[in-house]
Amino acid sequence: GGSARIKALLAKMTLEEKAGQLTLMPPVGGGGAAAFNPAQPGAVFSRQLDDARQMRLGGVFNAGSVAAMRALQTAAAKESRLGIPLIFGADVIHGYKTIFPVPLGEASSFDPGLCERTARVAAIEASASGLDWTFAPMVDIARDARWGRGVEGAGEDPLLGSELARARVRGFQGRSLSDDDAVLACAKHFAAYGAAESGLDYNTVDISELRLADVYLRPFKAAFDAGALSTMASFNEINGVPVHANSWLLKHILRDFWKFSGLVVSDFTGDLELVAHGFAADEREAAKLAILGGVDMSMASGLYLKYLPDLVAKNEVPMERIDEAVGRLLFVKEQLGLLDDPFRRLDTKRPAKRIGRPEHIALAREAAQKSIVLLKNEGQLLPLPRTGKRLALIGPFAAGAHDLVGPWTVFGKDADCVDLATGLRAALGDAASLAVVEGSTVDAPLDGGIDAAVAAAKAADIVILAIGERTTMSGEASSRDEIVIPQAQHDLAVAVAATGKPTVVVLKNGRALALSGAVLDAPAIVVTWFLGSQTGHAIADVLFGKVGPSGRLPVSFPRSSGQVPYYYAHKSTGRPNAKARSVRFKTNFLGLTNTALFPFGHGLTYGDIVYSDLTLSKTELSRSGMLSVSALITNNGVRAADELAQLYFEDVAASLTQPVRTLKAYKRVALPPGKAQRVSFELAASQLAFLGADMRPHLEPGLFRVWIAPSAEAEGVSGQFSLVG
Ligand code: IFM
Repeated sequence: GGSARIKALLAKMTLEEKAGQLTLMPPVGGGGAAAFNPAQPGAVFSRQLDDARQMRLGGVFNAGSVAAMRALQTAAAKESRLGIPLIFGADVIHGYKTIFPVPLGEASSFDPGLCERTARVAAIEASASGLDWTFAPMVDIARDARWGRGVEGAGEDPLLGSELARARVRGFQGRSLSDDDAVLACAKHFAAYGAAESGLDYNTVDISELRLADVYLRPFKAAFDAGALSTMASFNEINGVPVHANSWLLKHILRDFWKFSGLVVSDFTGDLELVAHGFAADEREAAKLAILGGVDMSMASGLYLKYLPDLVAKNEVPMERIDEAVGRLLFVKEQLGLLDDPFRRLDTKRPAKRIGRPEHIALAREAAQKSIVLLKNEGQLLPLPRTGKRLALIGPFAAGAHDLVGPWTVFGKDADCVDLATGLRAALGDAASLAVVEGSTVDAPLDGGIDAAVAAAKAADIVILAIGERTTMSGEASSRDEIVIPQAQHDLAVAVAATGKPTVVVLKNGRALALSGAVLDAPAIVVTWFLGSQTGHAIADVLFGKVGPSGRLPVSFPRSSGQVPYYYAHKSTGRPNAKARSVRFKTNFLGLTNTALFPFGHGLTYGDIVYSDLTLSKTELSRSGMLSVSALITNNGVRAADELAQLYFEDVAASLTQPVRTLKAYKRVALPPGKAQRVSFELAASQLAFLGADMRPHLEPGLFRVWIAPSAEAEGVSGQFSLVG
């Protein structure tokens, strides 16, 4: 951040003004700015205007309307001593007003191009509403399904996570950050937030540097390589040092090793929480440890404003460190075009022009369709006929303006979304019969609910059972100890199953679920996550076969909560479940096979897909060589299929043990009925390297197994080759 303009500003700023720059605050007085009336700003808002005027503020998040932001920006850019503009941020996680599927759901598309396009639209709508900065993408790898925040990320796999991180950063930041429709991306939460012990939010992380490098840091590197110019420190500690004071992570890795030039912002009061962590003795020390640890900007606590001037005056924090942090923030503001035009994204006419455009809604429908995963489809129950059958739609998620936008949606509203009943009715038209019955609430029985559900099921030919998790069962501070369908809904499923009517389970969920009993036994199961604005239309499109299901699980669904954390890329033990010599003494739970119920990568189509004939271009690969791996994929079914072929490797013996399988690439093939296609992957030997704790790739000769398969645990077709030299 060394432009002449920035240097000149730094030279003019007082120490207090620098501390002010490094302070990011929500609108004071809760909802103050959102309810802002330009004619009568109100006492609380006036105080924040005054902070902006006095340069006690570097940015505001969740400031509300363009009018409120214009008033704040006028105070900062026109009425303050040096006229440094504010930066406006907010959590725009999966859409602004037009809501796309939750990121975990969208990850099911295995489609970086799609994720880039939805992030682009989110940025267009957010920037039209005055925002410069989104606290997204969340790129935390999440392997513990109990953790509520897995819903905000891309799942369990570092390769998929990295590709989607890159795509989302590109989408948010657009062609150039200075464009009025670009927003600054914030790769969060740096780092290993998803590795919290027992999936409990904010909990301790004790992790090897090896695993950190090879799994959790990868998507961050991808996001920074794609140009993300900000990152957020995570709430957790790593190996005894809270991230908000962790200079090994925030300086050694981020700055010295990766050469990251952007801004590190704290999480909400994350600096202050160093006290509760038992790391800082008091607030003042917390501010000191955070700034010295590498946190540039403080969110919401106000600690930097309060303590940095005194800490510098007493020589406890060097002025150079303050200048470095302020320089980075000004650099980011410069990149966003704010130093040239503080009102770049503050045009009151733009929201009406750029929000909720028809092409945004169409994209929401496309993204929702592609996020749906078909787990099971016995007897080809799906797709459903649109005519000639009586349908009963049963369950707490059948109808109503609730649980549609899903977790972490600040600006989009359930009331603006299409619910399932509305979507089904629109697809069916007037002629068809659709009975809609709630049957049960999410977690408590309804008076007479089961009787009504059973009556509706009996009067129908086919049941659609809409069950699962409500919005607040995933997301921040929403970890679950049991990742199951709540009992009341299970009872509903049992009662419906007893009618013997063919049932399609339509799951709403923010995490992998351990399905069992009547739910698991239903002939068809569809995972729909939280799909956003076009929920009902997209589900109807897939259920009636207007489009085929094409989503794949970005997280493994275990058989039981007790298996968690379960992820496909686990290591082999000395007594692996499948290959152990002993029947008794092996890596398994008593009475439970330790494999996934539905593995990572799993998802059916309406076709009938067969993998055959794996072909390797060579059996000996040199370190600088290229390998081509291909397989024949045939659709023996009567319907078209969009198949996602996945390429996995196993490094059979290495100086650091490697996972039983690692995803290296994936490709979609569109297969009309009766057609076959050879899908082929070109791979450089260097892609077989693993990352060591030294953060460097290690490429070791030896035997590799390779699969092209429809999931991480499916056999598909396999072969082997050696890396030589
Ligand atoms: O961006 C979020 C973060 O993910 C969790 N804590 C609050 C931040 C700002 O809203």
